[in-house]
Formats: sequence, structure tokens, C-alpha cells
Amino acid sequence: MAKTISFARGAPSLDIVDVDGLRAAADKAFESDPGGMTAYGTAIGYPPLREWIAERHQVAPEQVVVTNGSMQADAFLFDALVESGDSVIVERPTYDRTLLSLRNRGADVRMVELEPDGIDVAALERVLAAGARPKLAHIIPNFQNPAGYTLSAEKRERLLELAQNHEFTIFEDDPYVALRFEGAPLPTMLSMDPGETVVYASSFSKTVCPGIRVGYLVGSSELIAKVVKIATQTYISPSMVSQAIVHQFCLSGALERSIEQVRKALHERADTLCKALERELPDARFVKPLGGYFLWVDLPRGTDVGALFEAAAERGVQFVNGSDFVLDGGDSSMRLAYSGVTPEEIEEGVKRLAEAYHQLAAADEDAA
Ligand SMILES: Cc1ncc(COP(=O)(O)O)c(C=O)c1O
Repeated sequence: MAKTISFARGAPSLDIVDVDGLRAAADKAFESDPGGMTAYGTAIGYPPLREWIAERHQVAPEQVVVTNGSMQADAFLFDALVESGDSVIVERPTYDRTLLSLRNRGADVRMVELEPDGIDVAALERVLAAGARPKLAHIIPNFQNPAGYTLSAEKRERLLELAQNHEFTIFEDDPYVALRFEGAPLPTMLSMDPGETVVYASSFSKTVCPGIRVGYLVGSSELIAKVVKIATQTYISPSMVSQAIVHQFCLSGALERSIEQVRKALHERADTLCKALERELPDARFVKPLGGYFLWVDLPRGTDVGALFEAAAERGVQFVNGSDFVLDGGDSSMRLAYSGVTPEEIEEGVKRLAEAYHQLAAADEDAA
């Protein structure tokens, strides 16, 4: 069978990872701070990286904890804030791992529809007016996983007002923020927050590499102290080696160069994917992403994406079913990740996907 083309994994292809830059950063780290990076350290993370992140977000270092990937930060935050039965708002669709993590904790998860300019704040207002008392709203503001959509400036403001008025925390989960293809970046809700309404997470997975496993959380110093306690009990400390390497990568300017390279490659991939879909699969409905890794595709109502998944797999093409990102429905949608595939693979993958789709449509017509 022809080589498998995967639109499934939200991970970069090796050609957009700066392996040489990482090797140089590791050398520099071992040279400049062998004691600090080989010790256990503490659960706050590698102190120089913590300070670097704090400066970027213009907060005090006590407001930052650096973790093994932002997934770990999410888990600590949920451990600190979410108890079984607590109401939590998430976008529909949302990142499948967050959904699973919240459900495993027994949270009462409420999905609110995601629009191309972000969560439907009017629908959220109706949910609140009907008496919902959420503890937390999980929001992926930029180039959302799985939809690729971005929350508008107006909705950021409105969400903050709603959170303040209804006393819930906004969890701003923002690993894709640096991967904007064009236009000016929007302010983070963290930076717009006059109080302690927002807890912010981000990651070096998409700008350095996922294998380094370095992410972080920014919040009030009280909340971060609580998270640090949970982190200490969980693993004593995160990987100092990884964090020291990331710190040197940031200091040397390699981070900005890596972001430029990743952005350029992803932009080309997203353009190629959109054009290929328009040409090969005109039934596909999607919003062209402004950045990030993902494209959400809606196929005509009644399309069985589960069957398409099987037919595509037979042709060596993988994607993730839309139903994985919602509590119910999503049966005629899918997520295509373009982060791990070259433009040539995208062209070939979309051709195969379209063949699978047209074969199923023809079989349906024969059966009718
Ligand atoms: C929205 C979102 N949050 C968190 C994560 C976890 O990232 P990390 O690799 O930093 O654990 C991802 C990874 O794909 C993601 O898409």
C-alpha cells in the first residue's frame, strides 16, 4: 500500500524542528549551569526559565509554574479547581484530551457552540441566565484545537465581563498563539484582566518541539502556590534538563527563528490544504485558519464520517472524526491537522480522501 499520510496528529514534521538549535542550546545549558540543570530543582520549574516567562507576560515569577508540557499544567489546574459535580464550560467542539480529563474528574461539562470568531457568547449568556454556576470556562483563544478558529477581541472583552459578573475563572489555553500566519496578534485575556479572573497556559511544544515537554501556567500567586504543592506531591519537580535547554534556546534567539520557520511552513501547508479541498472535495465546508495546526471540515449533513474514516484508512489516509471533540453529534465533521505533512503529501492525501468520499457517496446512491 502507498505510504500513509496522516492528517490525524497535532504534531510537527521533523523538517520544522530546529534540531541543530536544540543541540547547541543543550551544549550551552550544560556548560553554563551544570549544577542547576542536573539537580532535582523544585516544582516551580527551572528558575531562570520561570523568570523569562514571567517577564514575557509581565507578571511576577511567583505567578508562574513551569511544567512537563501544558497538559500537565492543565491536570494540576483541574486538580486544584475542579471537584466532581462542578460545572465547567467548554467550547463545542473542543480539544479531546481536555474533555476526557474533565469528564474523568466527574465535572459537569457544558459545551457551548464555537463560531468562527470564537465561543458563542450570547449562548453562554443564556446558559448563565438559566442558572448555570460554572466554576471554570475552558477557552482555546487562538487557532483553536480542533476547529482552527480564533476568538475576536470583542468576544474576549465580553467573556471577561461575564466571568467577572458570574464569578467563574477563565482558563485561557493558548499553545498556538505564536503561530499566526498574518495580521496583528490579539491581546491575551490574561493581559486584559484587571483582577484574578484568568488562568493562562501555554507551551513550547509548538514553537520548540513537543518531545521537550515544557509548558506553563500563569495565575494569581495564591493559585500558583496551590498548584506548586500538587506538583511537588506528584513529581518533586519537572525536568530541569528540558527546561534549561528551552531557556538557552530562548536566550540565543533560536526561539524567534524557529517560530518564523514553523509559521512559514504551516502557512504554506494550510494554503495548500484549502486549495486542494476546494478543488478535490467541493462538498467540504471550512473556514481558512489564520494560524496554528488545524482545519475543521463539515461535510454535508448525513455524511457518515465514521465510514469515511475506514474508507480513507484503506487508502492510507488518517484524520480524526469530529465526534471525538464533542459530547454528542459531530458525525459529519472531521479535523485535519496539516502540521505533520508536507505540501506534496497534502495534495496526495486530499486526492485519496476525495476518492474515498466519492466512492462512499456513489455506494449510497446505489443503495438508495
Ligand atoms: C489546546 C491544547 N492544550 C494543550 C495541549 C497540550 O500541549 P503540551 O504538548 O504542551 O502538553 C494541546 C496539544 O495539542 C492543545 O492542543
